[in-house]
Amino acid sequence: MEAGARVTTYWKVDPNRPDPEIISRAGLILRRGGLVAFPTETVYGLGANARDAGAVAQIFSAKGRPVDNPLIVHLAGAGQVEEVAVNVSPVAGELMKQFWPGPLTLVLPGKGVLPREVTAGLDTVAVRVPGHPVALALIRAAGVPVAAPSANTSGRPSPTTAGHVRADLDGRIDAVLDGGDAGVGVESTVLDVTGEVPVILRPGGVTPGQIKAVTGAVELDPAAMSRTLEESDRPRSPGMKYRHYAPRAPLVLVEGNSGETGRILAEMAREYARKGARVGILCSCESAGAYRDMKVVELGNRHDPRSMAANLYSALRTLDGAGVDIILAEGTGAEELGLAVMNRLRRAADRIIVV
Ligand code: TXA
Ligand code: MG
Repeated sequence: MEAGARVTTYWKVDPNRPDPEIISRAGLILRRGGLVAFPTETVYGLGANARDAGAVAQIFSAKGRPVDNPLIVHLAGAGQVEEVAVNVSPVAGELMKQFWPGPLTLVLPGKGVLPREVTAGLDTVAVRVPGHPVALALIRAAGVPVAAPSANTSGRPSPTTAGHVRADLDGRIDAVLDGGDAGVGVESTVLDVTGEVPVILRPGGVTPGQIKAVTGAVELDPAAMSRTLEESDRPRSPGMKYRHYAPRAPLVLVEGNSGETGRILAEMAREYARKGARVGILCSCESAGAYRDMKVVELGNRHDPRSMAANLYSALRTLDGAGVDIILAEGTGAEELGLAVMNRLRRAADRIIVV
């Protein structure tokens, strides 16, 4: 069936003990070439049978995703890796042991058995075993590797609730498993383990420090944290080159270590408001008191990047819903989980001001 011409079924499931009857129906849809959105411990994913080129192609049309951006293959356990990858290094094996199931995606040498729609023609394949009970049960029920990007329209903020999925993909996919809020709130860390030293291509739920504790060394692809799209022109993770995670209103990010970000953000906000713009503010709880008569969305405690990650995407969608003309966002520390938050904010930004 063409994307855009189907009735989407919504199933509410217990996030910890999903109804086996529902899971088995959803698994069957996947195995037969349909599209099912499901909760993971990071964000909601949009799954298709990774062995079925036609099913995977529908993911791209449902999301409006550029075809040169490869997908992550979701597995039910590390034992399945050999079905899709070869030459798994001891370090990669150790990372699987430490972090799976969980928010870590490993880029491995591909076995060349998956349709080119999945890997975008690369000779590597990205794999992960998600930590959410619903995701794991669904992949098991499907009985096949499941290719799954985030379940949003391409370029929009990733979905952390089934409501976000509905807003973007209703009528374009077959079913949604509604297991409540996704946990971490930002996507998995994409780690290339094909070379000597592991390289973080996309910061995410597993932090550099956690990886380093296992591998001894880890690098960060410079393109991942660049402040301009030009700088990220040749990223090793194709997905990093697009403006991403973006709300509809233009977003200006103010970041830096000067301690002045709050003051400058407030000044800019007043200036925009004076010109008649409806201003949306995205900031830490600590800064929220500085704004009056503006739409303020608090991201979380400045010293708790976990709360910021958990709220980020839903905050961007809330500001969209508020119909503001411009969003001013306050940067945060780019350490550990804060690195993932800042990566997403930089990718969402139209303009970045460093103070
Ligand atoms: O947490 C997550 O990873 C979520 C949930 C649903 O599992 N999925 C997700 O998928 O974020 P997506 O498609 O939105 O992002 C996949 C990222 C993209 O940046 C893509 O370029 C990169 O992984 N990627 C996939 N295969 C790759 C490969 N072979 N080499 C390098 N990067 C790859
Ligand atoms: Mg995505």
